[in-house]
Amino acid sequence: MRYRLVPMDRSHLAQAAALERECFAHPWTQSLLEQELYNDMISLVAAEGEDGTLLGYGEVRAVLDEGTLEKIVVSPAYRRQGIAEEILRAYLRFGQAHLSFLTLEVRAGNAPAIALYEKLGFRPVGRRKNYYRELGEDAVIMTVEFGRAEESDVPAAGSDGVEKS
Ligand SMILES: CC(C)(COP(=O)(O)OP(=O)(O)OC[C@H]1O[C@@H](n2cnc3c(N)ncnc32)[C@H](O)[C@@H]1OP(=O)(O)O)[C@@H](O)C(=O)NCCC(=O)NCCS
Repeated sequence: MRYRLVPMDRSHLAQAAALERECFAHPWTQSLLEQELYNDMISLVAAEGEDGTLLGYGEVRAVLDEGTLEKIVVSPAYRRQGIAEEILRAYLRFGQAHLSFLTLEVRAGNAPAIALYEKLGFRPVGRRKNYYRELGEDAVIMTVEFGRAEESDVPAAGSDGVEKS
């Protein structure tokens, strides 16, 4: 599937809400997503197929120079094709230019997401015990810090064998 990354807009909202319901126990509603669209501190990036299908999306909240990855999700039918990695790399490029760090919280048992974050240079920096009470699971806090380009923690695409050939 060919796709492009675009800023999320109103045309994506219904599909985004459907993806939320499909993928999360506590889905964001369409009206919440709409509010996020108009929040100046929030960036929502959509992966859009050629026919307009929403394949996935990410959300980063930036307050001054501190960024938080609030969400990243790819439709089950389109996973393992590098879409989440592409979205995250776009945010990392933004982070290199504008942020001191990008941080996130992830369920300790969410192995695919943790593998994704580790691949792109995020490292565990803390843990919130039993944060996901209904699952009895901890949250792992992971962060990537941005320094000058030569000091950055972010693996470059194509370097160190981290990129798909
Ligand atoms: C986590 C998620 C966003 C990954 O999306 P994706 O588009 O399938 O991921 P990519 O294809 O870009 O994978 C990039 C890297 O992530 C890791 N990864 C992704 N899915 C993985 C899996 N199921 N098992 C192991 N590693 C995985 C791998 O390192 C992969 O690199 P590789 O293909 O070179 O091995 C997707 O599984 C998802 O939407 N999960 C449900 C929502 C969620 O839990 N989001 C995170 C919390 S908000």
